[in-house]
Amino acid sequence: MPGNGLILAIESSCDETAAAVVQRGSRTLSSAVASQIATHARYGGVVPELASREHLRAVVPVVRAALAQANIALADLDAIAVTSGPGLAGALLVGITYAKALAYAQNIPLIAVNHLEGHIHAVLLNERESLQRQSSLEKGTGAPGLASETWDGSTSGDQPALALVVSGGHTHLYLARPAHGSWTYSLIGRTVDDAAGEAYDKVAKLLGLGYPGGPWIDNLALHGNPHAVPFAFSQIKTKLHLGGKPPRTKAARTAPIANLDPHFLFSFSGIKTAVLRYVELHNLRPEAEARREALFTGPDAPPSPTVDDALATCDLQTLDLIASFQHAVVGDLMKKTFAAQESLGVLRILVTGGVSANRELRSRFTAEAARRNLHVAFPTLALSTDNAAMIAAAAGPAFRPASLLHPASQPTPRSLSANKVKASNRLDRADAVGYFRGQGFQIGIEKPPLPCRNLIQ
Ligand code: KG4
Ligand code: ZN
Repeated sequence: MPGNGLILAIESSCDETAAAVVQRGSRTLSSAVASQIATHARYGGVVPELASREHLRAVVPVVRAALAQANIALADLDAIAVTSGPGLAGALLVGITYAKALAYAQNIPLIAVNHLEGHIHAVLLNERESLQRQSSLEKGTGAPGLASETWDGSTSGDQPALALVVSGGHTHLYLARPAHGSWTYSLIGRTVDDAAGEAYDKVAKLLGLGYPGGPWIDNLALHGNPHAVPFAFSQIKTKLHLGGKPPRTKAARTAPIANLDPHFLFSFSGIKTAVLRYVELHNLRPEAEARREALFTGPDAPPSPTVDDALATCDLQTLDLIASFQHAVVGDLMKKTFAAQESLGVLRILVTGGVSANRELRSRFTAEAARRNLHVAFPTLALSTDNAAMIAAAAGPAFRPASLLHPASQPTPRSLSANKVKASNRLDRADAVGYFRGQGFQIGIEKPPLPCRNLIQ
C-alpha cells in the first residue's frame, strides 16, 4: 500500500457529517461525527435542504477534528475517500466537493465509496482491529500492530459472508466475497418498499416519539409484551408472481426485484399501516399527540427528553404495541436472512446499518446463529449508524497500486497489469467512480442519488 496507508474519509450522505482517518483500512486513528438530529427532530424526518446546509457548516470543522484526533496533518494523507452514494444529492455534493478539493490540493487519489459497502466494512473493520489486538497481545507487544497482511481484507475473518444492511434507507441482503484483496457483492434480497429503519421512524412519529425512532422503540420495547399484538408479514410477490400487474409502489417499480428469490424480499410498509390501523381502532391518537407535546413541543417539554420521560407517558397498551412491532420486524429480518443463509450455504452473517444497533435484533440473531452453529457479527454501536471510519475502511482495499488506474485508462480486467500506475497519480472523481464501478466496486445496480429515509420533500 502506498505511503503509510493513511486514508481520510468523508461521509455526508444523509444527516450525519462525518470524517475519519483509518490506516490501511484496518486501524482507526480517528472518527468524528456531527449529528443533525437536533435540526431534523422537530420535523420527524430529514429535510434535504436543511441537511445540505448543515453539512456545509460542519464539514470543515469535522475534517479538522478528525485530523487533530489522529494527530496528523493533511500533508500526511495518502488518499481521500468519500461517499459517492446512495444518499441525498445535495448532501452528497457537499462531501464530494470538499473531498475533491482536498485531493486536488494535496495531489493524492480520491476514492469513491458506496455507502452500503461502507456499512459492510464497518463490521470488517471491527474484526480486523480485534484480530490485530489479539495478535499483538499474543506477541506481547501491547500496542496494536499493523500487520501488512491485514489491510486488504485477507484476515482469517474475511471469508464469504451474507451481509444484511439494515438502516433508515436500506434493507438489503448481499453475498459479500473477498476477491483478490478486495470484495465483490451480489444482491440477494431487498425491501420492495420501506426500509426497516424507515418503519421504525414512521411508527415512532405516529406514536409521538422522537426522531430517529429506532432508539426510542428499542428502549420502550423492553417494557411491553412482544406477543400482545400478532402482526403478520405476508410473503412478498415479485412482478412475475403478480401475473404481470404493475407493482404498487415507486420503489417496487424501480427495484431490480424480478430476478430475486421472493423469499428474500422484504416489505415494511404493511406493518407501518397495521400499526396505524391499530392506533386508530384503539383511539390512541390523542394520547400520542399528548406525548409529543409533553416530550417535545409543549411549553413544559424537557430540553432533552429521556427514556424515563417517555415511559411516563406510555400506558401498557402502547408499550405492548411498540414491543410487538419490534418483535415482528426483527422476526421478519431473521426469517429472510436465515433463509438466504441456508439457501446459499454461507457460514457467516454480518448485520450492519443503524437498525443493527437494536438490542432485540442483536440478541435474537446471536441466539439463532448459535443454534445453527454459524458466525454472526455486528459493528460496534458507534459504527452501526453512519460514520466515516467505515468509508475509509471500505476504501482500504481499493487503495493499492494495483487498484489505481490512470484516468485515461479503459478498465478491462484482462489488461489490468498494463494499466497499473504509481499511487501518486491523482484520480478524478468521475474516473474513480467509473473505474470502481467497472471493477465491480459498486454494490447492486442502484444509481445514486437514492432517497434517504423518511424524507420531507
Ligand atoms: O445507518 P443509519 O445511521 O443511516 C442510514 O444509512 O439510513 O441508520 C439510521 C436508522 C434510523 O432509521 C434509526 O431509527 C435506526 O437506524 N436506528 C435504530 C436503532 N438505532 C438507530 N433502529 C432500531 N434500533 C436502534 N437501536
Ligand atoms: Zn447508513
